[in-house]
Amino acid sequence: MSVIIAPSILSADFSNLQKDIEMVNSSDADWFHIDVMDGVFVPNISFGIPVIKAIKRNATKPLDIHLMIVDPDRYIKTFIEIGADILTVHYEACNHLHRTIEKIKSFGVKSGVAINPHTPVTVLKDIIKDIDLVCMMSVNPGFGGQSFISRTYEKVKRLTKIVEKEKTNVLIEIDGGVNDKNSKKLIDSGANVLVAGNHVFSSINPEKTIRNLKLNL
Ligand code: DX5
Ligand code: ZN
Repeated sequence: MSVIIAPSILSADFSNLQKDIEMVNSSDADWFHIDVMDGVFVPNISFGIPVIKAIKRNATKPLDIHLMIVDPDRYIKTFIEIGADILTVHYEACNHLHRTIEKIKSFGVKSGVAINPHTPVTVLKDIIKDIDLVCMMSVNPGFGGQSFISRTYEKVKRLTKIVEKEKTNVLIEIDGGVNDKNSKKLIDSGANVLVAGNHVFSSINPEKTIRNLKLNL
């Protein structure tokens, strides 16, 4: 399977969102990565339901929604109704993670669990078979354009071992500071989904940047 590329809309031009959505539609990207921040779980507020509805109306590819919010159970149904194809909650934000995951899956969409840079991959051992995706944060969540934390490579390798041992085919997504300098090493370490915000949207030719990430150049 070739790597899945998910441009992060957080770095798009909000004054001309349609243009950037159409760019992703016509590019080699696979998903739209959509960051929802509540100003409580993370020290930033991004965008919410009306904006995601507008993205959904124009997007021709799946929406990978990353909830950086406390107590996400309150909004699972809403985010699925407005078009989430993959819905990811944070391990650190859920008291009853298994229940939350079961709720997401009951709506027939793919479920993901995100872990912060300080959270060890071992906490996922007893949930890994129940989920479709692990979103491994390679920056502290809350902002686009931060520097990649290089310890992520080792973490991906450790998670890959758990995935192999448990004989499951969960996707390993890397989120934060991904660019053409670290993408190959991440894929070689076991990652199969790359989120990229700043690297894509601040480049002169975003479609080419996406293609290069996809082809692992
Ligand atoms: C960070 C977000 C990321 C962010 C990635 O909290 O979860 O998805 O948009 O942006 P870059 O690729 O610029 O680090
Ligand atoms: Zn994200």
